Amino acid sequence: TRRITVHDIAAAKERGEKWPMLTAYDAMTASVFDEAGIPVLLVGDSMGNCHLGHDTTVPVTMDEMTLLSAAVVRGTRRALIVGDLPFGSYQEGPVQALRNATRLVKDAGVGAVKLEGGERSHSQIELLVQAGIPVMAHIGLTPQSVNAMGYRVQGRGDEAAHQLLRDAKAVQDAGAFAVVLELVPAELAAEVTRTLHIPTVGIGAGAGTDAQVLVWTDMAGLTPGKMPRFVKQYANLRQTLGDAAKAFAEDVTDGAFPQEEHTFH
Ligand code: KIV
Ligand code: NA
Repeated sequence: TRRITVHDIAAAKERGEKWPMLTAYDAMTASVFDEAGIPVLLVGDSMGNCHLGHDTTVPVTMDEMTLLSAAVVRGTRRALIVGDLPFGSYQEGPVQALRNATRLVKDAGVGAVKLEGGERSHSQIELLVQAGIPVMAHIGLTPQSVNAMGYRVQGRGDEAAHQLLRDAKAVQDAGAFAVVLELVPAELAAEVTRTLHIPTVGIGAGAGTDAQVLVWTDMAGLTPGKMPRFVKQYANLRQTLGDAAKAFAEDVTDGAFPQEEHTFH
């Protein structure tokens, strides 16, 4: 088996094939998704919320991204692994972006990186692509800007819709191989998808995008609390794991575990 590449992703758009992407933050979970045939795994800076206990993605560091991206690469054989550039690792400019993207490629072994921003990130994307690092862009709601933006649907109204289209074209022109559209109206996401020749990856962007991404802990029902409207839960891992922990605890307090079969003499 060989790894999926950005060329396979481009070919899928030409064939009109839709594809799934999930986040992953550790080797074992990533191996499950790899074996399930998910072609692209994102080591998202959503690890801040899902894995590291932060309230937002803002505090996530390059050290954390590098460590967990390396684990996901080691746990997989086939998937294209995309590593997020965290907040503060590329906003200073293209040279900073290249230095940090290079770390994810060399030290963690990712096949591509992702960064947020359309027109504002054009020069960063361009330099990374020139250096031979495939870039997935991310526009619409960009969670690293939560302090300025909040969490709400983007691209509503004529002016905002035009800006989103400009952002989409800017990242394509800069050489991005794909673009995430987060929390934008379905009609606008479909228009962007028709306009671009690179694939769009939707999250909360309706059914008209080329690909769909979900945060794995949301998709599998591990994240606590009420899920946003755009999430579909395919399992209830929070319940399953909690039940397993309670059953273990009960067995230990009752003396029902370990049994003879678990014991050495
Ligand atoms: O970090 C992340 O999980 C993401 C996806 C939601 C696209 O950026
Ligand atoms: Na992210």
